[in-house]
Amino acid sequence: MIVFQDMYLNEVNLSFTNNPFSMNPRHVWVICRHNDQWLLTDHSERGLEFPGGKIENGETPEQAAVREVMEETGGIVSDLNYIGQYKVIGKGKTIIKNIYFAKVSKLVEKDDYLETKGPVLLNNLPKNLSTNSMYSFIMKDDVLQHSIEYILKKAL
Ligand code: GTP
Repeated sequence: MIVFQDMYLNEVNLSFTNNPFSMNPRHVWVICRHNDQWLLTDHSERGLEFPGGKIENGETPEQAAVREVMEETGGIVSDLNYIGQYKVIGKGKTIIKNIYFAKVSKLVEKDDYLETKGPVLLNNLPKNLSTNSMYSFIMKDDVLQHSIEYILKKAL
């Protein structure tokens, strides 16, 4: 398990094993690739981030991951890999997220991307991401860097 603090100084526990913190996580986060580019969404309040959100009642985490990618980017997921889970021990509440790596085969143009402004494709993630105000706080802790290293190492 990897332990660090996020930008709000909340403790984060991260592990690339099978459901290390909960068998029933309430959130998902999906690192997406489309046509050899990273596929992000532009969240209206938080800024650029990989898509994700809450698992709805009756949904599996995988169904939530596929749904969130479609809702926030218009992306059709063709391949979904569970890679790990993280726990953020916040002031008052703790949240647990499953992390996925998704390949998106197609982008459907939509009238509405819910709380986001829709898809953003990038060749590279910027080096200064943790201080770049265009990016969401959820991209700014070590979860992203460790997850991308894991994806590259496993050649997913
Ligand atoms: P609501 O019921 O809408 O309040 O949602 P929730 O309580 O289930 O979770 P919410 O998404 O609001 O997250 C609660 C808190 O957890 C946030 O204010 C953040 O501090 C923290 N948090 C959520 N997602 C992440 C994340 O991906 N990374 C980090 N570091 N913190 C997160």
